[in-house]
Amino acid sequence: MLTGAELRRKFLNYFSLRDHLILPSASLVPKDDPSLLLTVAGMVPFKPYFQGKAVPPHPRLATCQKCLRTPDLEQVGRTARHHTFFEMLGNFSIGDYFKKEAIAWAWEFLTKELGLPPADLWITVYHEDHEAAQIWHQEIGVPRDKIVPLGKESNFWEAGSVGPCGPCSEIIVDLGPERGCGSPDCGVECDCGRYLEVWNLVFTEFNREEDGSLSKLPRKNIDTGMGLERIASVMQNVPNNFETDLLFPLLEEAAKVAGISYGANPESDVALKVIADHARAVAFLIADGVIPSNDGRGYVLRRILRRALRFGKLLGIDDLFLHKLTAKTVELYQDPYRELKDRSEYIEKIVSQEERRFGETLEQGLQILEDYLAKFEKTGEKSLPGNVAFRLYDTYGFPLELTQEILAERGMNVDLDGFRDSMEKQRARARAAWMETLPSDSFSVCTTYQCSKTDFQGYNTLSTRSQILAILVGGVEKEEVAQGEQVQVVLDQTPFYAESGGQVGDQGVLIGPDGEITVNDTKSAADGVIVHYGTVSRGTVHKGDLVLAEVDEKKRLAAARNHTATHLLHSALRKVLGDHVQQMGSLVTPERLRFDFSHFAPLTNEELNRVEELVNEQILNNVIVNVFEADQNDPRVQDAIALFGEKYGDTVRVVAVGEFSKELCGGTHVHRTSELGFFHIISESGIGTGVRRIEALTGEKLLHYWQDKAGILQTAAELLKSDADGVVSRLEQLLQQLNQQDKEIEQLRNKVMASQVDSLLAQTVSVDGVNLLSVKVNVPDMDALRSLGDLLKDRLGSAVTILGSPLDNKVGLVCFVSSDLVKNRGLHAGKLLREIAPIVDGGGGGKPEMAQAGGKNPAQLDAALKKGLEIVREMLNS
Ligand code: ALA
Repeated sequence: MLTGAELRRKFLNYFSLRDHLILPSASLVPKDDPSLLLTVAGMVPFKPYFQGKAVPPHPRLATCQKCLRTPDLEQVGRTARHHTFFEMLGNFSIGDYFKKEAIAWAWEFLTKELGLPPADLWITVYHEDHEAAQIWHQEIGVPRDKIVPLGKESNFWEAGSVGPCGPCSEIIVDLGPERGCGSPDCGVECDCGRYLEVWNLVFTEFNREEDGSLSKLPRKNIDTGMGLERIASVMQNVPNNFETDLLFPLLEEAAKVAGISYGANPESDVALKVIADHARAVAFLIADGVIPSNDGRGYVLRRILRRALRFGKLLGIDDLFLHKLTAKTVELYQDPYRELKDRSEYIEKIVSQEERRFGETLEQGLQILEDYLAKFEKTGEKSLPGNVAFRLYDTYGFPLELTQEILAERGMNVDLDGFRDSMEKQRARARAAWMETLPSDSFSVCTTYQCSKTDFQGYNTLSTRSQILAILVGGVEKEEVAQGEQVQVVLDQTPFYAESGGQVGDQGVLIGPDGEITVNDTKSAADGVIVHYGTVSRGTVHKGDLVLAEVDEKKRLAAARNHTATHLLHSALRKVLGDHVQQMGSLVTPERLRFDFSHFAPLTNEELNRVEELVNEQILNNVIVNVFEADQNDPRVQDAIALFGEKYGDTVRVVAVGEFSKELCGGTHVHRTSELGFFHIISESGIGTGVRRIEALTGEKLLHYWQDKAGILQTAAELLKSDADGVVSRLEQLLQQLNQQDKEIEQLRNKVMASQVDSLLAQTVSVDGVNLLSVKVNVPDMDALRSLGDLLKDRLGSAVTILGSPLDNKVGLVCFVSSDLVKNRGLHAGKLLREIAPIVDGGGGGKPEMAQAGGKNPAQLDAALKKGLEIVREMLNS
């Protein structure tokens, strides 16, 4: 029996011997490919090669690629073959061999290497592809009646809505009549399970364009894909993919956690399969840098993860369990997927955190659903109101699809329009809340006064002659404003950059014929209207005035420096830490830059240094910053970093720093990297699970920062009577001295105490055979008082010891009673102190053998101690 690992090796080895370069699996997160959320096939990482936009390292390639697909998520677990994550074996030709070789090798591999009987194999071809049918029949010898022509639906393969594609031919294994439905119509297209497609050969000749049309690729290519789990199920002769050695250990682990066994009950088997599949997918996704969230890849991960948790719940698992299964995945798959092992701790953290988070609301959410379901069963209603589904989504963290699946299990559904409506309402509320954080009237400027889109000139110039289209004060339009008034101004054209993409809005001045406005911020309102926020700093300004709009050049340049630095930092982080680094947020101001990104551990000093070095290398190389606009599909745009989830128009703006960095960005940048001066990271910290934050400085601010630091060092050196280089050794020396002195002080203190002990012991009195000491001492704090008390009581043996000391403006009291006196004479330290503490305006208490108290009146300490003696005397006499 061939194991999954052996199949992987056998496949790659076979193609390696046929001059294929074997590449490791690429990430599940497609690199620089905004058209795809996740890697769905082996060809995804090679798209640019097929499209002629990049040159492959070798024209023949073969891989075992990690893939993830979710269109049929709710089917996973319920069928023999559906998966989220799976591995795809594939051989590829980039303009090298074509149909003939691809077909011959696939056939040879299956029949010779794996030894599948040719009689069990069927072939499908695209109905117009006579060439492929011909090859199968004439060169391979497959009988004509086992070559089935099929339509576009099944035999024309595309990776998504755009990109390389072509007709395909599939190899199908007949698993035998005993695995079939027995229907007379049963054939290769029947989905009863008898006929299993194992290998898809795509003859990639075309590219699907944005507008839906097909264009010819520069060359003819081959893209093949064989699902590892499927071929393993054939070779291992098991009825479904879950029983192959690739997944069975996960299934068993899930069964162990749930305390049940696989095969006992079809319902719980579904749950076990769901959990096995999903745990594997979750581990692989997180290892590739995806974090649970409410959109994009993060939402895919969250949906899978929460679906697994819900099925765990169905099995009655109450504890956190999913991390155990992801740990098992790591164990099973760390070879060849090292990233799992390298990030195992991180995976476990993210899984447990998400599990805990959902665990807190899962029960409540399910209860809400149950209530509705029970009600519906009575009333016969079939559709859950959209606002309820939305509340489950928003408050209880139920992905919509999860709610839909739970309902579907009972023959019900969600009112989707209602759901979207609630979602839209909430977005509107969020938008309104956001608008409130803007000085309120910016929005009404454009809606009420119908200003048209402002003509932004700020990429090319820092000053324009502009006309004032509207002035607002506190939301009300004004014809004229005077000195001191806070205003919002809309111009016909402006050089002021409005806050966007993390870069803050420009500051500057609007100079009119009769007055001036100091602009301290610029923001966008809806519909491309740019609003200048400021104060009239001189004279009066009127609507309609022609003004000179001037951006504060120094601040703008400082912001541009930090923006370019942010791009360099982003690229440097990816180079040093890996491609899982994704921008999670950024802030670019004239003062500094802040960059948040996904990564699982604090950066080491070496990593930080390396990042700084890479960025500064670019600065020292004085690289030209090339900014250009291009069509989305322009080859120059393809390898640019796009922010995930960000919507870009058809025309995008690209900011490229040599070969080092290329991002889609609308911000303002320097012309050459040397303008940054220097780059330095001033802090690195974690701001959430899997998200790190770096703050850094450039240019003048960095100079000031270093001057400040140098100043501090200088002052320290002067105070230490040393020079800067000597500060550390001088400090070490001083600390050592201090340490030594502390020890000496401690020794002296003990000596003083010991000498006090003797004179104190001399004041012991004896009452009715009991030693009694109640005296005033002088110690610095309660600790010292207790220590002294300890010393005395040990020396006195059977005794009552009461000590009091003034402490600043307060009083401290301790009392010890030896255990024989507690037992035989009924004395109690706590009770004793409770009686005398009020004399010094205080209180306290404790155990029979030891108690302490505080008070506010040192003047009465003597009286209190005297009273102590009296009380003990009375107690002993009575
Ligand atoms: N890219 C082809 C598929 O995924 C091989 O089926």
